[in-house]
Amino acid sequence: MISLHTTTLKEIVTQDFRAAAIFEKHGLDFCCNGGVTIEQACAARHLETAPIIAALGTLDHSPLPRDDRYTRMTPDALIDHIVSVHHAYVREAIPTLLTHTAKVARVHGERHPEVITIAEHFVRVADELQHHMMKEERILFPYITALAVTHREGGTLPRPPFGSAVNPIRMMEAEHVAAGDTLATIRSLSTTYTPPADACTTYQVTYQELRQFEEDLHTHVHLENNILFPRAIALENEVAPTNQTSHA
Ligand SMILES: [Fe+2]
Ligand SMILES: [Fe+2]
Repeated sequence: MISLHTTTLKEIVTQDFRAAAIFEKHGLDFCCNGGVTIEQACAARHLETAPIIAALGTLDHSPLPRDDRYTRMTPDALIDHIVSVHHAYVREAIPTLLTHTAKVARVHGERHPEVITIAEHFVRVADELQHHMMKEERILFPYITALAVTHREGGTLPRPPFGSAVNPIRMMEAEHVAAGDTLATIRSLSTTYTPPADACTTYQVTYQELRQFEEDLHTHVHLENNILFPRAIALENEVAPTNQTSHA
């Protein structure tokens, strides 16, 4: 339970690292000067405590993904979910993680050289994932949505430039493997996100953010590889032959 009067910013971040992003957003220093309560920190910066407490309250009840919920969704609704939850999360998390991994590498790289390698790996995977999501959103997902709508409502399906959904799906699956491998390398370099004894709060937070990033990617990729893509291929087999051959 968070107390305005007794719980320190540092204790809150240690209990739930997602609080770090909330404090950063409000310019509250949870790292070097994190031994103060929310009340004290807000008073020093002339801030209201209520919005910060409200934001911290939203962290408590994040629903865990449940497969049956997603398998019951239409493919287009599932795409909306993937884009609004997972693509949005990746885009929001990347700038913070780039900043944090670079800072940890700069400050701690001499004593812990693995954090320099981790920062380099993260720059690469962040770039790859942003291109990957753009391809999904501009090429593959609109086609799957068109398949779902045509299946439901009838009409004509435009012939896609990539021939069959199988082709971009194979490419996306290969990119998922590459991103997953890079994050697994980061996990291994970080000894499963275990900071050393001399790690400062930013170091600890960065490792927890990297853990969350990998966990989210696992859910994200699961929804695409195991639910969305097989359904897209099945839908294409049902919808495309009649629609496409008539316009060939
Ligand atoms: Fe995706
Ligand atoms: Fe993907």
